[in-house]
Amino acid sequence: MYYIGIDLGTSAVKLLLMSGNGHIENIVSKNYPLYFPHPDWSEQNPEDWWTAVLAGLKELTKKVPIEQVAGISFGGQMHGLVVLDKKDQVIRPAILWNDGRTAKQTDYLNQVIGKKKLTKYTANIAFAGFTAPKLLWMQTEEPENFSKIAKIMLPKDYIAYRLSGIHCTDYSDASGMLLLDVKNRKWSDEMIQICGIRKEMLPNLYESYEVVGLILPEIAEQLGLSKQVKIVAGAGDNAAAAVGTGTVGEGKCNISLGTSGTIFISSKQFKMDEHNSLHSFNHADGYYHLMGCMLSAASCNRWWMDEIIKTVQYQEEQKEIRALGENHVFFLPYLMGERSPHNNPDAKAMFIGMSMNTTRTDMTQAILEGVAFAIRDSFEVAKLLGIRIERTKICGGGAKSPLWKKIIANVLGLKLDVIETEEGPSYGSAILAAVACGEYRSVEEATQKLINVVDTIEPDVKLMYKYDERYAKFVKIYPAVRELYQALK
Ligand code: XUL
Repeated sequence: MYYIGIDLGTSAVKLLLMSGNGHIENIVSKNYPLYFPHPDWSEQNPEDWWTAVLAGLKELTKKVPIEQVAGISFGGQMHGLVVLDKKDQVIRPAILWNDGRTAKQTDYLNQVIGKKKLTKYTANIAFAGFTAPKLLWMQTEEPENFSKIAKIMLPKDYIAYRLSGIHCTDYSDASGMLLLDVKNRKWSDEMIQICGIRKEMLPNLYESYEVVGLILPEIAEQLGLSKQVKIVAGAGDNAAAAVGTGTVGEGKCNISLGTSGTIFISSKQFKMDEHNSLHSFNHADGYYHLMGCMLSAASCNRWWMDEIIKTVQYQEEQKEIRALGENHVFFLPYLMGERSPHNNPDAKAMFIGMSMNTTRTDMTQAILEGVAFAIRDSFEVAKLLGIRIERTKICGGGAKSPLWKKIIANVLGLKLDVIETEEGPSYGSAILAAVACGEYRSVEEATQKLINVVDTIEPDVKLMYKYDERYAKFVKIYPAVRELYQALK
């Protein structure tokens, strides 16, 4: 049988068709627009997602006997607020994970309700991109829209709804709403009250590898799929990526270099960082994870290449980089504000350290290094919690660069296991569909059978030492400029 994984990303949806033995049969990608209607806002139209998914599904299944597609699952950009009225119509554009409009509401939650209570209710504190502050924002800024809300959904769950007619979500994605009691795997009554919503507005909760229902007959017909295709809950994109790289069970690590950058540490036990710099979320394997998230990672490099130096030759630019660890330029990668560990939506990106002999190559290198340093910021928090990690997997667009992988391995001092399939969330969600349809007994079993390490990048002691010295300088920059961000607003 065949399984489809749909990764609903920020710039595009990626659809992947996998056979039961894990072989990738086809991959299709469809772009959609991202809107920044005000500085710091980030929105998308759920209808654009749906149009792209439908077109993608039609194209994806061309190559295989279509009646043998058994299940569809999802990995989706997390935290986005999708609101439906009582007729299940979208009320306003979705407010995305990298939207920074809720600074006031985030402060209210963290300072007035208080971090202590939030942590008790949800295991996390408020970050501007999380879903609950967005609800508070709607309540005060768009009261008319707020009063129409009948259902609150996350981005991938909207697609599951359009395919199945069912309002559902999974624990991993729901963890990022600040509405879920992560430890006890249930909606938090306290948070529901704080956000002025009703429990019926929230979708039913499922494990990521659970079937929520069947595809709607009219959609099956439109796509030429069997009416028995199972719709499987799926996961937030980072948890799905972790499944897709075999980062499940106890103490495994995955780094994702996508639009956002994340470091994801799986755990069989519930764990929490007492300063809440790392998110404490449920995982798609039925357990837990800790995660640090920076809001712009590979997107920093894309911005530099596409918008500033205007080239499509990413690799050629990186080939010029010679002396790793010896750059005099630093880059703070906060193009969309900053989440982990500083939690500052007002933070901005900057280069520092240039002189007359600085070249464009130095600046390209500074970007790759700056992203690696910012990921290390979260990794350092994990180390302080006593978590010992020696190796990591990696996925996402940035992981296509061998040089960036080498920089990450040496900045973090980790062995970096390169896997055969670095597709991440789309592959992980196809695996979740296969598990739900009974092809494998558990997510862990599926990943043990399907994920193969083909190479390991070992950190080099001399280079690690150079990067330790540079990291010690990097960590001084943010505290020195933090006060300025407010003044620059
Ligand atoms: C995770 C996060 C991002 C998005 C990107 O907390 O906000 O990684 O999920 O799609």
